[in-house]
Amino acid sequence: MYDVKNGVKIYHPQQDKPNRSDFPGCNDKSTLDVVWENVFFLYVSTDEHPHTTLLASSIVTSRTSSSLLLDVRHLTTVFRYGDKETAVVDDVSFYLERGKTLGIVGESGCGKTVTALSIMRLIPSPPGRISSGAVLFEGRDLLKLSAKEMQNIRGKEIAMVFQEPMTSLNPVFPVGDQIAEVLFTHEKISNQEAMQRVLEMMKLVGIPTPAERYFQYPHQLSGGMRQRILIAMGLICNPKLLIADEPTTALDVTVQAQILELFRKLQQHFNMGLLMITHNLGIIAEVADEVAVMYAAKIVEHGTIDTIFAHPLHPYTFALLKSIPKLNTSKSSLVTIPGNVPNPLDYPVGCHFCTRCPYAVEVCFVQPPPLTNAGEGHAVACWCWENIELDENNLTGK
Ligand SMILES: Nc1ncnc2c1ncn2[C@@H]1O[C@H](COP(=O)(O)OP(=O)(O)OP(=O)(O)O)[C@@H](O)[C@H]1O
Ligand code: SF4
Ligand SMILES: [Mg+2]
Repeated sequence: MYDVKNGVKIYHPQQDKPNRSDFPGCNDKSTLDVVWENVFFLYVSTDEHPHTTLLASSIVTSRTSSSLLLDVRHLTTVFRYGDKETAVVDDVSFYLERGKTLGIVGESGCGKTVTALSIMRLIPSPPGRISSGAVLFEGRDLLKLSAKEMQNIRGKEIAMVFQEPMTSLNPVFPVGDQIAEVLFTHEKISNQEAMQRVLEMMKLVGIPTPAERYFQYPHQLSGGMRQRILIAMGLICNPKLLIADEPTTALDVTVQAQILELFRKLQQHFNMGLLMITHNLGIIAEVADEVAVMYAAKIVEHGTIDTIFAHPLHPYTFALLKSIPKLNTSKSSLVTIPGNVPNPLDYPVGCHFCTRCPYAVEVCFVQPPPLTNAGEGHAVACWCWENIELDENNLTGK
């Protein structure tokens, strides 16, 4: 049930049940439950019980106080294909603190956008539905809110910037009016005041001569400008959380760098949490504090940027990192991960990566590996992470 090392009990809350007599000061059952759900390890001094109470309440305070913004727990979203339903986001958990950036990275089709749309409750139903889990935003489960309550949160408290600015903007309205529309939806505000706020926001996101641009239509702006308009729409109500889904994919590298810089500046300015979704690890390295690596509907590894880039443990993360092109790489030695992310209807029953993994052993094909603690703030879902030596000449599985 727990290990004992040097007279200290070490609980593994993800696997063990608490022995309540070890927490005499934790009379409040819910406090202990919160601790249990939020930590990987809990150290309990066997001789000095009072310390456990201190420890428990300090963990609760640090994870449930003002710092924790978004806490996604065991989120599962399914889509119906013909007469079969399959999970395209499968038991996904992560959290984000105020003012921090979490990057979600993974190949095309692995479930990044569906994760974001699930948080926003924008999954088209049918064919999709959120089948289980919780999305706690400042402690409130968004999945339990009414459609009306959710509408008030979208755009005001949580905003999302999509991949394609041209399809997200309405071609027949001036861009300034489109930003103002978000304000009118959420605030009682006069036309004049709204225009003033929009012009200030356009300036803040780096749009030159905002007073002129306000009246222009999306097709009159460059791709980078349109993306800035979308960011302005996202930020106009000063949201606490911004979800950016591939916000720079359609842009050239120089504009991409400017937009990333803009995100950094605005994040500091507004102290908002940023969920940055991308298939590009370079972008993650630029902006994120932590990264969750997704593969075929599941999170396979999670950790701080430094840990993941310096000590990846999952064969998929390792292969992703090795496939980042370097300047001195010749064309013939570019590294790719052979094969494709399987179709959701064909996800293997065991580890979803088993069909492409060079280290797969028997258990990998029959049982999905749980996300396990692999060090402070580092988690990995792989049966073999402790026993394999990742080798860049062995990424292929063939
Ligand atoms: N409306 C839908 N109906 C049916 N299946 C869907 C729908 N939207 C997404 N999917 C499926 O869900 C899976 C995850 O898709 P998602 O868009 O989240 O991938 P992604 O990681 O964002 O990929 P990309 O990097 O290409 O944007 C894919 O297999 C996709 O085909
Ligand atoms: S669980 Fe097995 S198949 Fe999956 S990544 Fe680990 S070694 Fe590879
Ligand atoms: Mg996507």
